[in-house]
Amino acid sequence: MASCDLLKLACADIFHFLARPCRRGKSRKLPARGLRVLLLKCVLILAAVAGIGVTLHFSQAFRPRSPDPIRLPEVGNGSWTAVGEVEGVEEEQPADATTRPEPATRRPEPTTQPEPPTRPEPTTRRPETSPSPAKSPSKGSRSSEPAPAMAFTDSVHVCFCSDDTDWRPVAAAINSTLQNAKRPEKLIFHLITSPELAEVVGQVLKEVLPVLRRQLQVHSSVSLQKRIKGQISYRKSSGARKGLASAFNFAPFYLEEFLAQSDHALPKRLVYLDTDVLLLGDVERLATAQLHGLPAAAVEDCSQHFDIYIDFGEMAGLGTGRHFPAIHESGRVDPKECVFNRGIFVMDVLEWKKRQITRDIERWMAKYRESKKDIYKFGMSQPPWLLALHGKYHQLGAEWNCRGLGREALSLQELKALKAELKLSFKELQKVGARAMGDQAQPYIASCSDDAEVLHFNGKLKPWRSNRWVRRQPSPMCMVKAEAFPSLPRKSVAGKTFVRCADIWSNFLSPEAAQLLNATAVNFYKVNA
Ligand SMILES: *[C@@H]1O[C@H](CO)[C@@H](O)[C@H](O)[C@H]1NC(C)=O
Ligand SMILES: *[C@@H]1O[C@H](CO)[C@@H](O)[C@H](O)[C@H]1NC(C)=O
Ligand SMILES: *[C@@H]1O[C@H](CO)[C@@H](O)[C@H](O)[C@H]1NC(C)=O
Repeated sequence: MASCDLLKLACADIFHFLARPCRRGKSRKLPARGLRVLLLKCVLILAAVAGIGVTLHFSQAFRPRSPDPIRLPEVGNGSWTAVGEVEGVEEEQPADATTRPEPATRRPEPTTQPEPPTRPEPTTRRPETSPSPAKSPSKGSRSSEPAPAMAFTDSVHVCFCSDDTDWRPVAAAINSTLQNAKRPEKLIFHLITSPELAEVVGQVLKEVLPVLRRQLQVHSSVSLQKRIKGQISYRKSSGARKGLASAFNFAPFYLEEFLAQSDHALPKRLVYLDTDVLLLGDVERLATAQLHGLPAAAVEDCSQHFDIYIDFGEMAGLGTGRHFPAIHESGRVDPKECVFNRGIFVMDVLEWKKRQITRDIERWMAKYRESKKDIYKFGMSQPPWLLALHGKYHQLGAEWNCRGLGREALSLQELKALKAELKLSFKELQKVGARAMGDQAQPYIASCSDDAEVLHFNGKLKPWRSNRWVRRQPSPMCMVKAEAFPSLPRKSVAGKTFVRCADIWSNFLSPEAAQLLNATAVNFYKVNA
């Protein structure tokens, strides 16, 4: 319908333009600007026609909201080579992280064990955030949708941050979360994105997953996005990918600020998920986990240590300064301490605000901006997160972040550990597809997927782009229970069952939904190119 309107509008304009010179008896020479306008209209018509071709329903997504067509979102400026080429927001996997220590070297008792609760949670929370229907959202911010009928504070709130035009990963992540929740009707999803994308992403996701008409809120804020962008400094020398300098890589630290700009009461708990995950467990268990008075919960990852991300030598030379949270403040940071991944975390909103975690993160970011040397390596959002939350997070079980499912290979050390863990010989693993490739083995083989609550497809081999890599690269393999995912092709060896990790992902996004989302992304890109 909207496409037809667009067509009519454009046609009327063109007709008007051509007719005007005749009426005035002037020559029909088209000025250069007129030509440009005509060309733009043609592009819009083509896009509209394509929109009708793809789906009769979904044409609304291509409707420009204002006289100006929607502009390209600012993703690290000029990284828009093609849709799908756009970098995800997940943190870099440092090169040396492939030398994963064997499980046996895991520290038995983490020294970052959270301290007991300092004081009981106040019974009267958030006086400042009582719902005020009269209040209009602050200037430059938008938050979609009327209040869901259910009690907002009683809901389970799940947040994603992205300004990618490709929403296939988000759709699959949301679908998996709904499918595996005991009480899916309690979930409310929050999508934090750029103002340019907010309307389109809301529409397409509701089209694909109709329950989201009541259970999705899209948030964007020009001012907050600008504030975040102002904190970020990118240095090529640090070894971090440029895509990581996106404001949406840091937006997870500002969840409660994005949500506070809507008219709803601020939830007590927020679950943050990277877009490249699937939930196989009940997300409500995450949202209601006992955090012992701590501001966040996350999963420890002993395949990486603090010194991968932080140059302690450079850091020592800087001094910590009066206004910086001292690196010693929350107990000494041992460079060999395990990191805790930022990809999945639970935020206790009140405690996070009370302890001013966002301010601490910003201070560590400021330290990076001001230092001459690269005090942080590989990651961009991971180091400030690690430093600000060191000693202040509750450890979730490892099953809440089964990582590496998009990785290309196993290091020989990892292979050795895997063989020991599964009691499989290399010959047996070869039946799953394993082969030696120099000092590595392909494909990546995950055993954590066997009893995982969260699957995390970090790495280059994103399942939704498998058409790009499937011919040159074997898919990572995921060990699963024999009865799990009965419809997927599988390989069994010595009583262990393996499926392609990418197939598990595809299981949560129908081909029709994937096609619609892909077409939308491609069209959005074309219209705005
Ligand atoms: C991005 O582009 C804007 C305007 O085109 C410019 O002001 C800004 O400095 C650029 N940012 C980066 C990180 O290149
Ligand atoms: C959601 O996941 C279910 C279960 O795997 C699947 O059958 C369904 O097609 C998915 N929905 C969409 C819209 O992709
Ligand atoms: C997405 O659409 C583009 C353009 O139509 C196409 O080339 C590409 O193969 C599609 N990708 C998938 C995974 O369907």
